[in-house]
Amino acid sequence: MDLLKKKIQTEGKVLSDTVLKVDAFLNHQIDPVLMQEIGKEFANRFREKGITKVLTLESSGIAPATMTGLELGIPVIFARKRQSLTLTDHLYTAEVYSFTKQVTSKVSVSQDFIKQGDNLLIIDDFLANGQAAFGLIDIAEQAGADVAGIGIVIEKGFQKGGQALRDKGICVESLAIIDSLADHQVTFKEEDHN
Ligand code: G4P
Repeated sequence: MDLLKKKIQTEGKVLSDTVLKVDAFLNHQIDPVLMQEIGKEFANRFREKGITKVLTLESSGIAPATMTGLELGIPVIFARKRQSLTLTDHLYTAEVYSFTKQVTSKVSVSQDFIKQGDNLLIIDDFLANGQAAFGLIDIAEQAGADVAGIGIVIEKGFQKGGQALRDKGICVESLAIIDSLADHQVTFKEEDHN
């Protein structure tokens, strides 16, 4: 997706060989026009799959997931990382280990919002080692729901999440796949969709 790649090139900051900072449009300040285009792109890629709900993880997945849900005309659910005052029982929970932060967190979704027969589209901002995605798949399985696919805004192709998910036969659509962040340069993988 050219608009996204341009934004990454102009406003992204390469912090190290493995970390890209995109606080200017995705992780802190949000560019709503870009998010709308991202929502349209995901909707186009998954429109024929009979998706019933979009599932994401707070906080940075919420903007692209909401725009996708708006385009598809379906609800959006975000898994919570923190315990909620009002969300206390009837939960599906999964453990998500972050290699980046080296902490395990528990993510939860109310059983009211995902049901057997749901056909979910998982959306997230980054795909690195895939732990967040596997946690959300775990929650879908607990609910008896299907996962039709995963939409990722930025995939770090040099980390193992994308391969691990595709090896399991899961349809992963990433709008920008980064091959390398070496020498403070963002290099995109050639084969991803434009
Ligand atoms: P994984 O889920 O694919 O295994 O990724 P990992 O544990 O490595 O990532 C943990 C957090 O760090 C996630 O955000 C993920 O989106 C983010 N992250 C991973 N690599 C990068 C990167 O290169 N740049 C940026 N900006 N973020 C990265 P989170 O903790 O869920 O944060 P948030 O959604 O609350 O913003």
